[in-house]
Amino acid sequence: MDFGIFLPIANNGWIISKNSPQYMPTFELNKEVTIKAENMGLDFVLSMVKFRGYGGETEHWDYAMDSFNMMAGLAAVTERIGIFATVQPLTLHPAMAARMAATIDDISNGRFGMNVVAGWNKYEYSQMGLWPGDEFYNDRYNYAEEWLTVVKGLWDNGRLTHKGKYFDLDDCLCQPAPVNKSNPPIVCAGMSEKGLRFTVKHCNVNFVAGDLEQITSVSAKGKQIAAEMGKEIKTYALYTLIAADTDEEAQSIYQHFIDGTDQDSFSGLQTARSNDKAGSTTEKLLGDIYLAPTLTGAPETIVDFIEHLSTNTEVDGLLFAFPDFIKDTDYFEEKILPLIEARGLRNKVIQKIEA
Ligand SMILES: Cc1cc2nc3c(=O)[nH]c(=O)nc-3n(C[C@H](O)[C@H](O)[C@H](O)COP(=O)(O)O)c2cc1C
Repeated sequence: MDFGIFLPIANNGWIISKNSPQYMPTFELNKEVTIKAENMGLDFVLSMVKFRGYGGETEHWDYAMDSFNMMAGLAAVTERIGIFATVQPLTLHPAMAARMAATIDDISNGRFGMNVVAGWNKYEYSQMGLWPGDEFYNDRYNYAEEWLTVVKGLWDNGRLTHKGKYFDLDDCLCQPAPVNKSNPPIVCAGMSEKGLRFTVKHCNVNFVAGDLEQITSVSAKGKQIAAEMGKEIKTYALYTLIAADTDEEAQSIYQHFIDGTDQDSFSGLQTARSNDKAGSTTEKLLGDIYLAPTLTGAPETIVDFIEHLSTNTEVDGLLFAFPDFIKDTDYFEEKILPLIEARGLRNKVIQKIEA
């Protein structure tokens, strides 16, 4: 299994509660988490893209930094770990994204990758006058497909003439090319049929989120589509880890967060997600106040579950969020990672370096 961290680039992480740790996103916080991840030998860090959150007292995700700039900064202060930024195609011309990615690829010496999200919350884009209309929910993966074709064309050749439905490039230059020439890994989180097909066709890794049944079926479906297309795809599952020395303790932390639900913010999220009738977000991704599914329990319980995913599903890696990204990553390193390694659940261990 590969392991990564979903960086806290927006306020308060992935729990919409007044009782969970409250914090603002800063470069210093993200740097500290990323250096910890690198020092413990994890494979990658990834930041999401977010332009508007859900209001309420906690103003959940109403504060978010820019993903590309954040990852450029992190690329400069790390040496080994994979660095992924997220982009939503409506917000950035593909020639700009290709050049920005090539720049971070250079800063990181070939460690950069890009997460392409099709867009599920129209309010993030309509506030900027960028939302093409609700028909975009059906069309978004076609748009992303042409967008990514342009990006890859520029990386391949350093210049591109392209006349498409959405983009028109006339001998457009993008030089120098990435260190990995045409090969910064591309990830996506396609969970709908269209999303999965787009991901298998154009990306290296698919992110999934949901309960065990959903993760099992989406990861299997991804491999099945890949086999049909003669492609390969890895699947990484997303979890917020709520860990403590005993299952009871971890459960009571989980319940404490639930007890403090920011109802107004949560309603804002529900309104936003109800607009997306074409995707799978509504049922699968955003079930409750936990924006990422939770893995709650003592270290043994958590690692039992990871072992189950590794043995009985097509999941190839995990992406973790934490309630407290400093304290809880330390706990992960001290109590959980050694168990993961002892049970042989890692593909490879990137050489660890002393902090
Ligand atoms: C790990 C992970 C990261 C994601 N990052 C973002 C993001 O940065 N911005 C965003 O708008 N959506 C993000 N999403 C949502 C997905 O882009 C997508 O809407 C969702 O997985 C539903 O799939 P569908 O588009 O096929 O319906 C993420 C989902 C996952 C699982």
